[in-house]
This record gives sequence, C-alpha cells and structure tokens, in this order.
Amino acid sequence: MDYSTYLSRDAHSFRPSAIRAFAKLINDPNIISFAGGVPNPETFPAERISEVAAKVIRERRAVALQYGPTRGLPRLCESIASISRSRGVECASDDVIVTTGSQQALDLIAHTLIDPGDVVAVELPTYIGGSASFFARSAELVGVLQDDDGIVPESLREVASQRRIKVLYTIPNFQNPSGRLMTQARRAAVLEIAEQHDFLVIEDDPYGELVYVDGADTTAMKARDKSGRVLYLGSFSKVLAPGLRCGWVIGARPLLEKLEIAKQAADLCSGMLDQSIVDELVAGGDLAPQIERVRAFYRGKRGVMMEELERHFRGKAQWTPADGGLFTFVTMNDGADAAARLGEAVARGVAYIPGGPFFVDGSGANTMRLTFAKESDERIREGTARLASVFP
Ligand SMILES: Cc1ncc(COP(=O)(O)O)c(C=O)c1O
Repeated sequence: MDYSTYLSRDAHSFRPSAIRAFAKLINDPNIISFAGGVPNPETFPAERISEVAAKVIRERRAVALQYGPTRGLPRLCESIASISRSRGVECASDDVIVTTGSQQALDLIAHTLIDPGDVVAVELPTYIGGSASFFARSAELVGVLQDDDGIVPESLREVASQRRIKVLYTIPNFQNPSGRLMTQARRAAVLEIAEQHDFLVIEDDPYGELVYVDGADTTAMKARDKSGRVLYLGSFSKVLAPGLRCGWVIGARPLLEKLEIAKQAADLCSGMLDQSIVDELVAGGDLAPQIERVRAFYRGKRGVMMEELERHFRGKAQWTPADGGLFTFVTMNDGADAAARLGEAVARGVAYIPGGPFFVDGSGANTMRLTFAKESDERIREGTARLASVFP
C-alpha cells in the first residue's frame, strides 16, 4: 500500500535527525566518544530523585499520579517564575507553561505560529531539534551568520530586509552546537532588529546555568524585551536529568493562551510524576547545590579538552572556548570534510559529530561538534590525540 497519499502536507516536510544516525557510535566502549549530545548520567542526582519519587508517590498520589493542569503544577510554575526572574526575565507564575521538555515548547510554538512557507530565521549552525520543529510545520528556514560574539547583526538585517521573517530562533547561552555565548550588546542589537522588522524571537536557554568561567553574562535576552516579542524557553534537563522531561515557556499572555490550547491537544498535561519530583527537589532547595555539582563535574573535563585542542590543533583549526554548556565547535582551517573522515576516525577509535547537518544553508562541511561531557580526563586526552591523527 502506498501510504504517502495519506500523509499530511506537513508530514511530507518531516526531517529525520541527521545526527541520530551517529548515536550508535556513542556506546561502543572501544570508541572514545565526543559525539554525544546528552548530559553525563553521573551528574543525575539519582539517590535524591529516588527518595523524592517514593515520597510523592506515597504521600501525594492524588497529584503525582493524576491528570493535572495543562499549564503545569502551580507550585512548580511559581518556582520556574522565580528561577527565570533570577535570569533577568520579569514574570509571574501566570506567565509560565510547563512543557514536556523544552523540545515540546519548540513544537507547540511552531504549531501555533507557523504556516507552510513562513520564514524562520535560525543561527548558522543551529540545534537540529529546533530546526526539525520548524521543518515539521513546512516552514522555510533561513540561516543567519554567527561569529564569536553570537548572531552577526548585519547578517540578520540583510535577511530581514530580503525576506519577511516571522520568527527568529536563537540559543544565546552556550549554544548547541557551537558552545558560543552571545554578548549582551549583540542581544540588544538582535532585539532592535526584531523591533524594526517586526518579528518574534524564540530564546532557547537550556545551558545558561552550566557556566565554567567567571564573568560570563548569561542574562536572558528576554530581560530586554519591552514589547513582549520574546518567547523564553528553559529546561531542567541539563541540571537535573533529561528523563524527567520538564521544561517551560514564558511569553506574552495572548500567546500563552494559544500555546495552552495546543498543549491540551498534544498531551493534556506534562507528566505529573516528573513535575512532582522536580517541584519537590526545587522547593526543597536541592537545585542550587546540584547546579554547583554539575558545573564542577564538567568544568575539569572542559579544561582538559581545551588544553588538548591547544596541544594538537593549534594552527590547524579554530574552536570555541566552551565557557559553558556541553560543546566546543571545531572549524578546520584547511577545509577538511569532517563527515568524509568520520569513518577513519571511528576506525582509529574516536567519534565526533560532523557539523554540516547543523547548517541549514548546506555549509559547515569543515566543522565538527565535540562534547567533553562523556569521557574521563584520560580518555579525552587520548581521544584528542587520535582525532589529531585523522586531521594531520
Ligand atoms: C538547544 C536545545 N534546546 C532544546 C533541547 C531539548 O531539551 P529538553 O530536554 O528540555 O527537551 C536541547 C537538548 O539537547 C537543546 O540542546
């Protein structure tokens, strides 16, 4: 039977993740993997989660095991508003919708805002799960250049003057995949262009708490948003555990009302057990010390990777400093094709993610994403040396 005639117009636009195919490289113990895109399970506060899970199941079954409000558990919405205020976002609990990971927020926003053919501006490179949400609504994705300070305003202005941008999708804090931190001046410039050309901004911020250096200003772009054009997304995935599927969106109330209706159709409510666990952890004061532990865990690994890149790739490549987040992004000076060399790298026992799929304009063949999250210091050293032998 030919099912394609049954598929919706949007289903014809679905794009499978070009990097999922590399996932199998992550679990072979003989391969030192810089290819992952996930937090290290050692950072998950598993004992506390199991205590809290037992407690909420026993003591609060009518909440934790029941359907709940579409917008989320009220006390968790309060806590999320408070967390977001500490990042500069002016908001109250009524400005929050809890989502099933921030990924669901991306999907709900795309569903609510995007008609087929609408132009969504994205960073070059950008997060594949983000672009997938927009492709799935048959959007047209247009790339905007980044440099080490974040989005290049001239590039955004040029795109905006040629095309009617409806939404810009940006990840200002330690972007996936580039690891870059957008400067506050650039955030201001981006918002000014959004005002002039009248488009909305989706600010995705799952990595802002994972900071490894002093003085990194991660204040949200939404902190500057006077006209209500920024939708701010956060997540507990990188600081607690992604299996808890707990994220959020904050935005102008008329937009939130629409997102709430989209969410009713999607899942009625996010998992109440997940929300109850996160709520209890946050209300019990576990979050701040947990964030400190996670930072300490990655800070050392990040330092080792930076040292080893300096040792082996100086003069051959450029890479981003990974002052936060989980990734550094490497650009080969000689234009070497990272996808073409992956087979050889795997044969030598090291894996990475070729950068090309993160660029919606088809550029980036000479780039790769490396994570320092998974491997021990010793294996990061060995893996970087192996990588250097593949890119002599
Ligand atoms: C930039 C970005 N946004 C969103 C997500 C999705 O995270 P969540 O687990 O909150 O759905 C990720 C996950 O890696 C990400 O890197």
